Amino acid sequence: MASSQEPLTTGKAVLDRNPDKFLSRSVHDLISLKGRTIVITGGGRGLGLAFGFAVAEVGGNVAVIDLLDKPHDHFQKLATEFNVKVKLYKSDVTNYGHLQATFDEIVKDFGRIDGLVTAAGICPDEPFLNREPESVARCMNINVLGTYYAAQLAARQMAKQEPAEFNPRGGSIVLIASIAAHVASKGQTTSDYCASKGAVVSLAKALGVELAAVGIRVNSISPGPSPAPCFMIACFVLPQANDDTAAGGIDIMVNEPPMRRIGDRTDLKVPVVYLLSDAGAYHTSDDLLITGGIHAGRLM
Ligand SMILES: NC(=O)c1ccc[n+]([C@@H]2O[C@H](COP(=O)([O-])OP(=O)(O)OC[C@H]3O[C@@H](n4cnc5c(N)ncnc54)[C@H](O)[C@@H]3O)[C@@H](O)[C@H]2O)c1
Repeated sequence: MASSQEPLTTGKAVLDRNPDKFLSRSVHDLISLKGRTIVITGGGRGLGLAFGFAVAEVGGNVAVIDLLDKPHDHFQKLATEFNVKVKLYKSDVTNYGHLQATFDEIVKDFGRIDGLVTAAGICPDEPFLNREPESVARCMNINVLGTYYAAQLAARQMAKQEPAEFNPRGGSIVLIASIAAHVASKGQTTSDYCASKGAVVSLAKALGVELAAVGIRVNSISPGPSPAPCFMIACFVLPQANDDTAAGGIDIMVNEPPMRRIGDRTDLKVPVVYLLSDAGAYHTSDDLLITGGIHAGRLM
């Protein structure tokens, strides 16, 4: 592994002269995560939990980091039904010391880290002019610094670990950003959230370039709204929300996307697997917008 003082070199360019290589690897083989260990922050519920299922369904082991004392009931199904290793670690992504100890524990338990998905995040909904500094700092700490810390700890392990038959080098990091990084959220006042997710998209671009030399790919995914707790709580069950605002929020989310439906966690399962696996082997420093088209234009 390069020391923290040492700049990463660009590595030696490789020209693969085998024109028939595509014949030797099927799509099933390319999307397999068999043998690999994927860490998922915020995987105790919501989108992160669905990503855990996606990884396990293609044979990957899953290490979940979450603040929750008790994960969603579906976690039990994830832990028992796929013949892969699954473990939950209670840790706060904003506490670097604890998070580092958690990553050390994961490496002790699983032996290695081949992938990371950062789904831990919060989405406060409060007018910009009223925001308290502590509340803004909390959002930035979780969404930006928590993502940065987890990416750094995972990448350090990926860069130094021994090659494996199922993963010859490096790894893949998928940062969960949001459509909010690209366009303001209609019907919501989420200034710090939008700013934090913009930072996540930029981080993926920068890290993809910086870490390419050590075989680590970094991308982000920007989902549109889906009915997982983060968005639903912000929109519908905050104390100030009344029935009219709740109905308005649902109306916007269902009718706003050109595809005229709200997103679903299912829509994100294959994109996450694609980026984590060899299927996405030449894909780095990108942001995948999975929004039903909202990023290109809105119907209302
Ligand atoms: N749900 C959506 O519509 C949507 C759309 C776009 C982007 N996102 C992003 O996807 C991610 C997941 O969203 P979700 O809707 O599943 O939210 P969620 O609230 O259901 O899940 C977030 C998880 O992160 C955990 N978490 C929060 N703070 C943490 C911390 N400091 N340390 C460790 N774990 C922590 C929570 O305990 C929770 O289990 C978030 O980053 C969110 O911004 C969600």
